[in-house]
Amino acid sequence: NWTTHSVVEEQVAAIRAQVGTKRAICGLSGGVDSAVAAALVQQAIGDQLTCVYVDHGLMRKGESEQVEKDFVAATGVQLKVVDAEERFLNALAGVSDPEQKRKIIGREFIRVFEQAQAELVAEAGAEGEEVAFLVQGTLYPDIVESGGGTGTANIKSHHNVGGLPDDIEFELVEPLRQLFKDEVRMVGSELGLPDEIVHRQPFPGPGLGIRIVGEVTKDRLDLLREADAIAREELTAAGLDREIWQCPVVLLADVRSVGVQGDGRTYGHPIVLRPVSSEDAMTADWTRMPYDVLARISTRITNEVPDVNRVVLDVTSKPPGTIEWE
Ligand code: XMP
Repeated sequence: NWTTHSVVEEQVAAIRAQVGTKRAICGLSGGVDSAVAAALVQQAIGDQLTCVYVDHGLMRKGESEQVEKDFVAATGVQLKVVDAEERFLNALAGVSDPEQKRKIIGREFIRVFEQAQAELVAEAGAEGEEVAFLVQGTLYPDIVESGGGTGTANIKSHHNVGGLPDDIEFELVEPLRQLFKDEVRMVGSELGLPDEIVHRQPFPGPGLGIRIVGEVTKDRLDLLREADAIAREELTAAGLDREIWQCPVVLLADVRSVGVQGDGRTYGHPIVLRPVSSEDAMTADWTRMPYDVLARISTRITNEVPDVNRVVLDVTSKPPGTIEWE
């Protein structure tokens, strides 16, 4: 007799027993899993938890604010925000290759996160406290897929604050490890998290960095953020946001085509809509979306987003196409 309420009560008790009076750190990604894990741990141990959010500048419109304001307001969690946009953009300058982008974003992310972590460990140490736990939003399917196993995370810190040991060893707290995604969403709602976080569609870690075909620049990111926000708004207004698995919006930054807009000829970029239906993202079909919704998205994007003069629909299933373009 699974009820969300009893799951919350059980997990809160288990977390208190595990952590005791020590301190814990949790990285927030903006995604559902880390948000619900953090909210549960916050419920259990309050100010013994500190969350870290690395803003890499590759999030969609409003998503960083959702973490920094709405999540904090809903949970009262202590949050350390690292604004690393410039660092990520510098590291990505001149890079168009998808695998290169993924590697750079992953590498920078780990460095920034570990540095923030080391600072928190040092600050706690100065107060005579010990940070001994790392909270992770691991779900049941994640454990099954990776063949089980838990324990400690041995994190090598590349950017050590003076006087810290090279290796910081944390014990993992994984309060969602018995749950499936839909159950995690229910727990999130039970804990009072906003719908925009609880019902968020999957979004890749490298963010919009892998939804710009071509080099990633601030201007291109801003442009894609506008187009993506319009698509999301219209999907939500049409009640399709929870029905569609996800809808990447992609900017073909290296492609230009001729258009006619306002006073005359334009030479702008295409935006691709990639709505897919799926159970687990391993396979997917392109979503047969109502034409009127597609028409509204197309009209709004070409009217409201500068430099975009064409909107195209991706009608490829997976396989052969992946969900993301890079
Ligand atoms: P593909 O493009 O491989 O994507 O069909 C399958 C699912 O995974 C998401 N995705 C990622 N998620 N880090 C993530 O956390 C990543 O690097 C990443 N790449 C793809 C994608 O959005 C889809 O849901």
